Amino acid sequence: MDVLLIILTIFAILALPLLKKYIKNKRISKYIDHLPGEKWYPIVGTSLSSLKATRENYFDVLKSRHPRFGPFIRLWLGSVPVVQIYKPEHAQEIFKSNKAISKGSFYKFLYPWLGQGLISGSGPKWREHRKIITPSFHFKVLDSYGEIFARKSKLFADYLQKYDGKGYFEVTEDITRIAMDIIVETAMGVKLNYLQNTDGTDAEYANAIIGFGTIVYKRLANPLLRNDLIFKLTGIGKKSQHYIDIIHSFNAKVIQTRKELLKDHKNEKEKKDELGRKVKMSFLDMLLAQQEFGDDEVEEEVNTFMFGGQDTTISSLTYTFLALGNNPDILRRVQEELDQIFIDDPDRPVTPADLAQMYYLDMVFKEVLRCYCFVPFLARELHDDILVDGVLLPKGANVTINLYDLHHDPDHYPDPYKFDPDRFLPDQVAQRHPYAFAPFSAGPRNCLGQKFAMRNVKTLLATILRQYNIKCQEKPEEVKYYMEIVLRPQNGLHIALESRSR
Ligand code: HEM
Repeated sequence: MDVLLIILTIFAILALPLLKKYIKNKRISKYIDHLPGEKWYPIVGTSLSSLKATRENYFDVLKSRHPRFGPFIRLWLGSVPVVQIYKPEHAQEIFKSNKAISKGSFYKFLYPWLGQGLISGSGPKWREHRKIITPSFHFKVLDSYGEIFARKSKLFADYLQKYDGKGYFEVTEDITRIAMDIIVETAMGVKLNYLQNTDGTDAEYANAIIGFGTIVYKRLANPLLRNDLIFKLTGIGKKSQHYIDIIHSFNAKVIQTRKELLKDHKNEKEKKDELGRKVKMSFLDMLLAQQEFGDDEVEEEVNTFMFGGQDTTISSLTYTFLALGNNPDILRRVQEELDQIFIDDPDRPVTPADLAQMYYLDMVFKEVLRCYCFVPFLARELHDDILVDGVLLPKGANVTINLYDLHHDPDHYPDPYKFDPDRFLPDQVAQRHPYAFAPFSAGPRNCLGQKFAMRNVKTLLATILRQYNIKCQEKPEEVKYYMEIVLRPQNGLHIALESRSR
């Protein structure tokens, strides 16, 4: 009798979550199963086409869904219900909502790397961290980073001299090093100088990020890999852990270096660096000063901001080179604007005041963010029902907003694959739907690093493009993408530089 009771209890414990899930999904099913989408199969749900996809054609497979089924598509990723949306008119209901702010279940694949830092976290912890961290991106703090952006940009432009007139070369590795140097020196207050003195750890770190990103998408595509227990037992689960160890130990070293630097300065009245300049309070110093943050929370946010600040800078430069290297007329207009701003001294460093005058470069970069939308989608898990254009998106479902499609919607962007910065002329912007352009997301969960990114990238471009003309070997229409955490060109990017003073 006792044994039977034990068996029944174990069964009830195991069955209860499944029953709850069944009841929850039954209601969701009622509201989403009438929406168009791929055929459903047991266990894998609607993931058959993703399962069959290769790393090389995964992005194309996902892109093909919207024209076939849109603008609302239902997916069952195994037992996870998802509605995909593509139109600015629909996305705005999610962006504007103060309720639809919990990250979708996809983000749990990022937990091993980012924990519940600002990008992947939700709930009261996210709210508290967002409030504490937001002032670290105030324009005054960004102004104080201006000197580093300018110095590093000049260093990078001079470093590129070795390619001057030498034909095409693959540029991603160099961009990766400068992006790392900049985020670590600005946000973390630690000087690396990987651009000139690489010791190999930068490449290991960058490869680990790419490797981990590849695995995240394997987990997205394959419902069997979603289960943490099964995943950890597989070969790629072990590989994933290896990448995470590399990433975490790199970032832990950054934190340790800054802590030691702060300790060294502790007894000095005024903190100075080796050149006698006042040492600035970095984003990391602010984290370390928080009583509320334990070591784990500091690490989570350092991992989050290293991710947010590095990969996106690499993509920003890569795709701007792709665009300008294929559009000499647009490149010339950018250079004419820069020549005008720096008429007093063509070689002087960029200042925050200069950035405010770069209207055309601003339009060009926005068009890069639209056209090559390298953060192609984002997701929320709904904790309340939400009605969008007559369609009820039920509590418990995930919603993905496909930013890439938002940015290529022919109703808002005629000839959407054409690179045309004039789309960002003020009168054109004023006429367009306000949510037709959202590379940094929008609303309460928008990108905290948006202004940092704009200043960083514009400073780099303004310095490089004053010095060089750029050509690009790849044609935009031929580039194939890996769909990982950001979209990456499958064969890298090959550019040629010619000094403008030649
Ligand atoms: C061109 C560059 C960038 C793009 C296109 C970009 C894009 C985005 C997008 C689309 C989101 C929303 C993600 C989601 O909802 O899943 C986001 C969030 C975020 N980004 Fe960025 N980002 C960029 C640069 C940066 C930089 C440089 C940093 C930090 C230095 C940063 C830090 C963050 C953080 C912390 C969040 C989470 C905000 C929150 O949910 O409270 N980003 N970014």
